Amino acid sequence: MKVLKTKKELISVLSKKTEEKTLGFVPTMGALHKGHIALIEKAKENSDLVICSIFVNPTQFNNLKDLKNYPQTIENDFKQLIRAKCDILYLPNVEDLYSENEEVKQFDFGGLDNFMEGISRKGHFNGVATIVEKLFKIVNPDKAYFGQKDLQQLQIIKHITKQLQLLIEIIGIPTIREKSGLAMSSRNKLLSQTDFEKSALIYKTLQFIKDNSRKFEILELKQYALQKISMQSSLNLDYLEIVSLEKMNPIDKLAEKNKNVACIAASISGVRLIDNIIF
Ligand code: PAJ
Repeated sequence: MKVLKTKKELISVLSKKTEEKTLGFVPTMGALHKGHIALIEKAKENSDLVICSIFVNPTQFNNLKDLKNYPQTIENDFKQLIRAKCDILYLPNVEDLYSENEEVKQFDFGGLDNFMEGISRKGHFNGVATIVEKLFKIVNPDKAYFGQKDLQQLQIIKHITKQLQLLIEIIGIPTIREKSGLAMSSRNKLLSQTDFEKSALIYKTLQFIKDNSRKFEILELKQYALQKISMQSSLNLDYLEIVSLEKMNPIDKLAEKNKNVACIAASISGVRLIDNIIF
């Protein structure tokens, strides 16, 4: 695996790639786990050359403590990427991607950011979109891979790719989970064993919503789900929403199958976890 630390080196290496070779791209913030590796594996299946980036993007953190605490496990990341046969790792520092005092670009996400993460993490999606646009323009892949674990992010990236008229196909990959159902996340590394076990209730609640979605009205369903998750007092619920897959806005009537999503964000001992289920 080639490890490149500057966009200059990366652009130079990519310029030697022949036209027919397809390029698959997996942007990450590192502290890699099987969820990230599933994206790399899918990219390997579909493309001749796979490039992963690891960059903890400061502009998408609305909380300095969260940024400082973000897990970094670079040696272990290397091992996993080599095992997954990733071809190129782009590992830039902040100066390679941002100029001094650069302002985050303001995007129009067409309302996809009106709820959930868009409310709880003000400015987060503008930070995500700013870095993803920069990375897309440097790498210029044929296909880019994102997890459904961050579904609102995935929908927003599809939206801006179209808006910016980039010829990149955005591919969403299903969430990889622990045995307990807990969605794999870099932040899980910050959980104690007990909190790790307690956090499984997030997925159990989502599963409950999916299993009972045709038995109750949405308001009632939400009420039961809220009761269920509140049984675990260590879980500090930020939101529980049932939204439209396409619009990411709360709904009061279910649409057809696989067009509805239940989303939860909750913190446990200060570690913020998000998850969702499509039904
Ligand atoms: P990060 O949290 O490192 O995630 C990188 C990619 O891995 C994202 O597309 C995310 O949805 C996916 N992912 C995370 N956990 C997953 C799981 N359990 N199963 C499947 N996929 C999973 O998301 C970001 O980084 C950043 O916002 C980024 C897009 C890189 C921009 O900075």
